[in-house]
Amino acid sequence: MHKVLLLPGDGIGPEVIAEARKVLGFLIDEHGAALELEDARVGGCAYEDCGDPLPEETLALARAADAVVLGAVGGPQFDHVERELRPEKGLLRLRAELGLFANLRPAILFAELADASSLKAERVAGLDLMIVRELTGGLYFGEPRGIRSLEGELRQGFNTLVYDESEIERIAQMAFQIAQRRNRRLCSVDKANVLEVSELWREVVERVHQEYPEVSLSHMYVDNAAMQLVRDPNQFDVVLTENMFGDILSDIAAMLTGSIGLLPSASLNGADQGLYEPVHGSAPDIAGQDAANPLAAILSAAMMLRYSLGEPQLAQRIEQAVRQVIGEGLRTPDIVYSARQSIGTREMGNAVVRALSEQSREN
Ligand code: IPM
Ligand code: MG
Repeated sequence: MHKVLLLPGDGIGPEVIAEARKVLGFLIDEHGAALELEDARVGGCAYEDCGDPLPEETLALARAADAVVLGAVGGPQFDHVERELRPEKGLLRLRAELGLFANLRPAILFAELADASSLKAERVAGLDLMIVRELTGGLYFGEPRGIRSLEGELRQGFNTLVYDESEIERIAQMAFQIAQRRNRRLCSVDKANVLEVSELWREVVERVHQEYPEVSLSHMYVDNAAMQLVRDPNQFDVVLTENMFGDILSDIAAMLTGSIGLLPSASLNGADQGLYEPVHGSAPDIAGQDAANPLAAILSAAMMLRYSLGEPQLAQRIEQAVRQVIGEGLRTPDIVYSARQSIGTREMGNAVVRALSEQSREN
């Protein structure tokens, strides 16, 4: 029996997780999937509840789970909360506590959605790339950090971009292994023309490359990588990069596929335990309106079945069902173009469940 912890979180999180839950529920009822679903609070709602964005109880459940599916955290009502207690801190601590150093963010274009991309359809045709983002190091966690007073009234903010060789090595290993299973091209993104930490990054990635001679390795500066992603994204197969660069580049990559509302992600710790979350965030502007796209959350559940639970066939079923509903022309507002009518979050989730049940009847 696999233990799965659902953390709906804030904003549109609860709405999209409700649809992922429907899909997992269907697999339990109709396919006998051996999943046990539990629920807990994280982020702003946890802070409101008990003053901590990552309560002890939630952390204990997460540690005991085989996988966690998280909706989103954060919202403008928490902007004035002390930094240590902000919703985002709950997510960052969860990543750190579970040692989730590898963040996989695929950007895949559904052919029917080429018109929703911000790029011309011919530039994104066939797009299928994977960003491997280091998730527990770099500027996000580096010490020292803070805001200090210099002389007089002048204050100074500071963070530290730091990576040791072992942190670079384990994420590079992961990226090469993923590249091996794909088109065997890895592009490592850094800022080695300016930063010492990037110089070391490059050296270690080169060293790890010797274990994977069948993968071709290239290096790119991050500013150029941002440009290349919008100029000719199809040149990429797997992109490996550090935490902050990966945060930025993965939002760019997301937009190329038409909507950030479609993109799942996996955060892994090297022991198959993982946190799965949509890339889109809490979208407070549309929360509670039944307008969010639940497909990223549903596809995150599929990634979980593949990467943490060893159920690739169930993952494929979900992905196939998502392709089917998109093929049928069903669209939430984020991916609707021209005057086509859009549907709500719940209706989209129901459509995926219906597509799954049609598969069952065909088999
Ligand atoms: C992401 C988000 C997070 C990050 C925030 C919510 C802390 O932007 O997952 O990309 O910066 O990592
Ligand atoms: Mg981000």
